[in-house]
Amino acid sequence: MGEREARGQMQRLVDSYGREIRSLRFSVINRCNLNCIYCHAEGEDWSENRNAKLISAELIIAIARVASLHYSIREVKFSGGEPLMRDDLPAIIEGMREFMDDISLTTNGTLLSTRAAELADSGLDRVNISLDSLREERYDAITRTRNNFRRVIEGIYTAIDAGLTPIKLNMVLMKGVNDDEIEDMIEFVRECNARGGGEVILQLIELIPYFNPSIHICRPDFNKLEAELRARASVVKTRRSQRRRKYLVDGVEIEVVHPIDNTEFCANCSRLRITSDGMIKPCLLRNDNLVPITRVDEEHIIARLNQAMRNREPFFRREA
Ligand code: 5AD
Repeated sequence: MGEREARGQMQRLVDSYGREIRSLRFSVINRCNLNCIYCHAEGEDWSENRNAKLISAELIIAIARVASLHYSIREVKFSGGEPLMRDDLPAIIEGMREFMDDISLTTNGTLLSTRAAELADSGLDRVNISLDSLREERYDAITRTRNNFRRVIEGIYTAIDAGLTPIKLNMVLMKGVNDDEIEDMIEFVRECNARGGGEVILQLIELIPYFNPSIHICRPDFNKLEAELRARASVVKTRRSQRRRKYLVDGVEIEVVHPIDNTEFCANCSRLRITSDGMIKPCLLRNDNLVPITRVDEEHIIARLNQAMRNREPFFRREA
C-alpha cells in the first residue's frame, strides 16, 4: 500500500462555485530564451519581478505531495518562462513521480532536442510545444529571435522519439499574423503522425489580450472557427476540463482553447496555478488574490491552499 492509500479518506479541494481542483500548474522560472510578441507570461508581472526569488524544488515537490496525498490531485503541468531553462527540472519531476499520474510541461521546444531523453528518464509523461508558424521568417518575427525554428522542429521529432506523447502543438491564433496557417499546421501534424512513435495533436489557442502592453494583435473569431471545425469534423468530443472541444478533422485531432468571455470555460476550470515566486494564483487573469506559500510544512501548505480556494471565482461568469 502506498502512502496515499494508507492515509485513508481523501478530501477534495472544491471552491464555492463547486469547481474541484484536478491539476496544478507550476511556473518554474520567470525567464525565457524567446520573446514572443503576444506572451502573457502566465499572468505574472515579470517586469517588476525580474529578480524575485524562484520557488525552490523542495517547495514545488512539497506542494505536489500535499495536493496528491490530501486532495487526490494527480495531474501537474510545468510552464515558465521556459521550463527547460531550469536545471533541476528532472529532479523536480523525479521528486513527485510517485504522487502524480500525469506529469507534463509546456515548452517552446528550442532546448528539447538536448533535454527530451533526460526528461523522459526522470518520469516526464508528455509535452506541449509552442509552434505558432511553420514559416521561418514569421516564426522569427513572432518570437523576436533568430535561428530557433529548426531547433524547435528538431525538438518535436526528438520528443516523439523519446515517447513524450501525446504531444500537443500549441498555436496561438493572431489575425493577419498566422491565422492563414491552420491548414498547413494540420498537414504538418499529419506528417508528424505518419512518422510513427505516438500521437501529435494540434491545439488552437485564443489570444489572451491582457498583461502584455505590446499586444495590439487581433484575435480571430473563435465562435466562427469552432463552427467551421464542427462542420468538417468526423468526431467532436468535449473535455471535462474547461469544457474544451476536440475535433477530429481529416484524421488529425484539433483541440480548441477558447477562454475569452466564455462562462462555460471558467465554470469548468479545475486548475490551480503556482507562480514562479511561490504564490498560489487562483486565476490566470487576476493578480489581486494571490496567496504566498512560504514554508514546506504540510499544515502551512494546507492552510494556504484553503485560503486560495476561498479566493477563487470564475473570471467570466453569467450576470446575476
Ligand atoms: N494568449 C494565449 N496563449 C498564450 N500563451 C502565452 N501567451 C499567450 C497569450 N497572450 C500560451 C502559448 C504557449 C503557452 C506557454 O502559453 O500557447 O504555448
